[in-house]
Amino acid sequence: MSRARSSFVCQNCGAVTQRWQGKCDSCGEWNTIVEEATASGVGAAAARSARKGRLIALERLSGASAPAPRLTTGLAELDRVAGGGLVPGSVVLLGGEPGIGKSTLLIQACAALAQRGERVVYVSGEEAVDQVRLRAARLGLTAAPVELAAETSVSDIVATLQAGRRPALAVIDSIQTMWTDAVESTPGTVTQVRASAQALIRYAKTTGACVILVGHVTKDGQIAGPRVVEHMVDAVVNFEADGGHHFRILRASKNRFGPTDEIGVFEMTGAGLAEVTNPSALFLSGREAGAPGAAVLASMEGTRPLLVEVQALCAPSALGMPRRSVVGWDANRLAMVIAVLETHAGVRLGQHDVYLSVAGGMRIVEPAADLAAAAALVSSLTGAAPPADCVYFGEIGLSGAVRQVPHAGLRLKEAAKLGFSAAVCPPAGREPLDVAGVAARSIAQIAELVADIAARAQARRGR
Ligand code: TYD
Ligand code: MG
Repeated sequence: MSRARSSFVCQNCGAVTQRWQGKCDSCGEWNTIVEEATASGVGAAAARSARKGRLIALERLSGASAPAPRLTTGLAELDRVAGGGLVPGSVVLLGGEPGIGKSTLLIQACAALAQRGERVVYVSGEEAVDQVRLRAARLGLTAAPVELAAETSVSDIVATLQAGRRPALAVIDSIQTMWTDAVESTPGTVTQVRASAQALIRYAKTTGACVILVGHVTKDGQIAGPRVVEHMVDAVVNFEADGGHHFRILRASKNRFGPTDEIGVFEMTGAGLAEVTNPSALFLSGREAGAPGAAVLASMEGTRPLLVEVQALCAPSALGMPRRSVVGWDANRLAMVIAVLETHAGVRLGQHDVYLSVAGGMRIVEPAADLAAAAALVSSLTGAAPPADCVYFGEIGLSGAVRQVPHAGLRLKEAAKLGFSAAVCPPAGREPLDVAGVAARSIAQIAELVADIAARAQARRGR
C-alpha cells in the first residue's frame, strides 16, 4: 500500500480537494478547508476489509408494511412538527442558534416521555451532568426518571444505549461534540460529525429507538458541519426566534414521515418553553389591529412561510419633491407600486410623503409583498383599515395586473394556522386556493383592491 496520504475536506459542504485552498470551489466559503487523513472517511474501514459480499433479500413495493406507529412526546407543538409524533427508529436533527432553547426543549420532551414510563436517555456533550440537573431543577422536572450522561464518545454512548431496556428516545446534545474512533480525523471535523451521525443512525435503525441529534447553526442559518448530516437523517427541524422576541418557532425543513409545512410555536418563559396554542395572539400582540396604514403580508422566506406586517404612512408634503422612505423593503419596488397605483387605480400620491416599513426588523425581498404594500398605502391615504383578519400577497405588474406568486397554498395555510380567516391574493394558478379556514379573494387588477378599501372608507364615513 502507498504511504498514508491526506486530503483536504471543506468543513462547510464536505467537498474534497487534493490541495489546500483558501476558498472552497464547491460552496464558495473561505477558510473552511482542513487537512484530514485519507482513508479515514465513511466506509474506509469497510473498504480495507476485502470480504466477499453476502446476498441480500430483495423485496417488492407491494409488500405489507404497518403504518409507522408514533411516539408522542407530550409536547403537542413538537409532535405536530414531527408529523404527529416521533417515528420509532427515526433520527431527527434539531438545528438552531446557540442559546435559542434546544436543550431546554429537549429536556422538557424527555421529562414528559419519562414521566409516562418510557426509558429516555439524554446525553450531553456540551454540559456537565450538574448543569443539566440545574436546568431541570429550574424547570421543575427533577422528578422525571430521565437517564443522564455527559459523554462525547459515540461508541461508549451506543454501547450504553444497547445495554438494558431499549430506550424510546435518546437525545444527543450536540452532534458537533461527538467523536468516534472509527475514523482518524480530529473531533469536530466534517468526517467525525458524519461518522458519528452514521453510527447513531445505524443504532436507531437497528433497534427502533428514536434518536434526536442537536446541531448548531451558523449565523446564515446553515447547520454548520452537520449540513452533511442533513441528507442522512429522517427529519431536519429548525428552532428559531423571530426578530428578538421571546417566542420561538419550530419548523421542519425535511421530514420523511410527515409534512414540512407545519410550525410549532413556543414562548420562552422563566420556567422554560411554554407551548403557544394560539400563536396569532402572540404574533399580533404588538399590532394595532384595525389601525389604518397596516396590512399583513403572507410572505415566504426561502421555502418557509412567514407573516409580517407592512406599515405605510402617507402624509401631505410641503416639499416640491415628496419624500419616499423605506425600511425593510426595496425603494425601487415602492416607487413602482406608487406609479402603478397612480396610473391604473387613480390613487394620487404626488403631494404626499410616503413612508413604508416592514414591522419587527424583517427584510422582505420577494415581489409578493407588492399587494400588501399597496393595501397599506391606500389604507393610510384613505384612513380606512383593511380587515384585521386578512392577509395579502401577490405581485403587481406594470399594467396593474395582479400576478401569481409561488406557494399560494403554503401562505394560506400559514395564515390559517396563525388565526387569519381571509386573504386577498392573485387568481388561482397551479395551486388551488381552497385552504380550510381562509376565505381567499382573488383579484386580477390592482384597481379591485383600491375599490375594496375605498368602499370601507365610504362605509366608515357613512357611520
Ligand atoms: P438552551 O436550551 O441552553 O439553548 P441551546 O441549547 O439552544 O443553546 O437555552 C438557553 C437560553 O434559554 C438561555 O439564554 C436562558 C433561556 N432560558 C429561559 O429563559 N428560561 C428557562 O427556563 C430556561 C431553562 C432557559
Ligand atoms: Mg444546548
